Amino acid sequence: MLFPSIGIMKLSNRRQTTLPSRRKQEVEGKANEFSSNNKKVMIVMQKRNIRLVWSGIAFFLFAATVLLLSSQPQKERMLVGKKKFATPLEWFEDEKTLNKVGESNKNLLDDDWLDMNLHRLSHWEFPHKEWESYVSKLVRYDDVQSVLKKTPCRMLEIGGGVGAFSRSLLRSYDSLSEFTSIEKSAKVMEISRIVNKKDARFRALSASMEDSKGMRATIAAAAPDISSWDGRCPGSYDIAIMSGVLCYVGTEDLVRITLDNAFTELRVDGLLIISILPKTRESMRSCETAIPLPMIERISKTLQYEIITTDDMSKWGTGNQADRYLVVLRKTGKIGESSCDHTE
Ligand SMILES: C[S@@+](CC[C@H](N)C(=O)[O-])C[C@H]1O[C@@H](n2cnc3c(N)ncnc32)[C@H](O)[C@@H]1O
Repeated sequence: MLFPSIGIMKLSNRRQTTLPSRRKQEVEGKANEFSSNNKKVMIVMQKRNIRLVWSGIAFFLFAATVLLLSSQPQKERMLVGKKKFATPLEWFEDEKTLNKVGESNKNLLDDDWLDMNLHRLSHWEFPHKEWESYVSKLVRYDDVQSVLKKTPCRMLEIGGGVGAFSRSLLRSYDSLSEFTSIEKSAKVMEISRIVNKKDARFRALSASMEDSKGMRATIAAAAPDISSWDGRCPGSYDIAIMSGVLCYVGTEDLVRITLDNAFTELRVDGLLIISILPKTRESMRSCETAIPLPMIERISKTLQYEIITTDDMSKWGTGNQADRYLVVLRKTGKIGESSCDHTE
């Protein structure tokens, strides 16, 4: 017979004593068995409860993390090929590209390697011959040629990168007496120093083109002694170039400040060449801002320059330049400081 209720455990002593001893053992055995089954059930239930509590905690933590992450503002990342970069600078400093220079910068001293690869470090994805043709097209305009071929000619490159443009141009123009390169990334600028080391006309400095004070101070401080101070005076450069650089500032206001900074360094009548200007958002690609011609015209109303050349780069046949153009601007009046205090 089974004892379905726990009440059996509470059988009175009187009744127990009246049961025969075999029967008594039987009852006690059943009672023990029941009690141990009960314990097992309790343990299983306890384990189940603990599991439930942990699942609850885990779910709560998961939900809180999801909520927290979705409430964080996501930094927009720039997609180039299959890789994403937070800023254009991160792209230009990309280890994978810069590591191509090889151990101990050996490749940077090898002219054959440089011919084939240097421009590629600045993400110009075309062969050497096309690169040289691109460089000569940048300076082919009559007004530019007449300044470039007249010695002494002082040239300023803004966003000079790894020095691919300066290296090619210095090899072609003996008339150039001085070439200063301004580059935001110190890491990238260092490469330009190494590749142009043999050329005493070249100097590379690190500054950001939209930082008026920083750029001016950097150029002024580069004077090794007072006798050569004149070369770094505001208003002393004959020609400046921004090749694939201006579109990396983020707003029209920064475009205006950057142009102001560039013109400050040019003499009156000096020329500024600006290439890879995206006309539309679609032609920006890695750029931050579209700079259609009306923007350049608008800014010319507050800075003193005239647009002497516009050239549609989509017809050049070098890389993908669809909907991009180049301008040559001439400084027509005083912009920024124009004299240099030699007693400073
Ligand atoms: C496409 S590369 C062109 C390099 C060079 N001008 C040439 O033609 O080979 C653009 C360069 O501009 C630099 N740059 C971007 N923003 C800059 C800034 N605000 N000031 C100075 N340089 C900047 C980048 O670091 C990069 O080296």
